[in-house]
Amino acid sequence: MKWLNDLRRKIFIDVGIDLGTANTIVYTHKKGFVINEPSVIAYKDRNQVLEIGLAAKEMLGKVHPGIKVIRPLADGVISDFIAGEEMIKGFIRKSGTPSLLINKTIIGVPTGITSVEKRAVIESAQAAGARAVYLVSEPMAAAIGVELDVMSSDTSMIIDIGGGTTDIAVINYGGIVVDNTLRIAGDEMNEAIIHFVRNDLKLKIGETTAENLKIQYGIAHKQMPERRLIIKGIHNQEGIPHQVEISNHAFADALADVMNAIVNAVLQTLDQLPPELASDIIDRGVILTGGGALLTGFDEYLRQRIQIPVSRPQNALLCVAEGTRKILDNFDYYRSVLYN
Ligand SMILES: Nc1ncnc2c1ncn2[C@@H]1O[C@H](COP(=O)(O)OP(=O)(O)OP(=O)(O)O)[C@@H](O)[C@H]1O
Ligand SMILES: [Mg+2]
Repeated sequence: MKWLNDLRRKIFIDVGIDLGTANTIVYTHKKGFVINEPSVIAYKDRNQVLEIGLAAKEMLGKVHPGIKVIRPLADGVISDFIAGEEMIKGFIRKSGTPSLLINKTIIGVPTGITSVEKRAVIESAQAAGARAVYLVSEPMAAAIGVELDVMSSDTSMIIDIGGGTTDIAVINYGGIVVDNTLRIAGDEMNEAIIHFVRNDLKLKIGETTAENLKIQYGIAHKQMPERRLIIKGIHNQEGIPHQVEISNHAFADALADVMNAIVNAVLQTLDQLPPELASDIIDRGVILTGGGALLTGFDEYLRQRIQIPVSRPQNALLCVAEGTRKILDNFDYYRSVLYN
């Protein structure tokens, strides 16, 4: 019934959502990528939605107690159901997609997600107007997004480092052979920077400042060129504004535990593989996706630690969303990679 499907696609709208701990990306098959904003919602007077996305993120740590700024996801899954639902609803509305016209919705979720967590995602999307909701594992979507032929016999390893989770998956024949989800990723890098600044530099800084420092000056290893920078904050004993000059190399030390945890998870995953598949990956290399993988020098650092070629596509932040787009465009071909 190809004509019926074609007619459906003319009238109704298919939606792909990368519902990430840090960022949500919404794709619609009529308008393309319509939303790419932080997964944050701000409420006034407890239940009135004030802002979502970037405008809400800009309020983090800056508003009076009458405004609550919430990140509805933690470690890749919805931790605040009401806020999660309101946020999805808000983004769909903002994308200009009438909920009555939504046909299929595909949402990326971490591989280690429990059935209760899956239900929470499905119900939140349904409450936002989606009817047929399908879930896809984020590394599978990322693999499809970077043009890997996931249905073939070629074996690939994808490492998707987001804000909340590091998802590692080995994929072939349209399925995941081995996977590993680590609830350590970009958010933990921010926390490591907050700790380092607090303990070593005696300064208090907020999450947004830590994230900006990571993006601008963070490095994965000390073979990177040295740069000096000034960090400003409140002295944590004297309570007065204070500034300290440091080298960016201090961030490599601050981030070392997070980097080690990620490398160990990759090595463990390789160790779980049948030897034939491990050697395929050693030949083909691994692919790094997600925003956390954009840390300066991450690809080189991983290459040195695991002794396997590492590639990192230009659009690392968009791979999962791009995968949902390809799945929607070729739904029957990819049907078997979906969770439900
Ligand atoms: N240039 C950069 N260097 C280092 N980190 C970066 C850079 N750009 C973005 N990030 C980090 O990437 C993370 C967000 O990545 P991404 O959007 O892939 O996560 P997510 O999909 O929302 O989370 P998850 O998949 O874990 O649910 C944040 O922690 C952000 O600080
Ligand atoms: Mg993600």
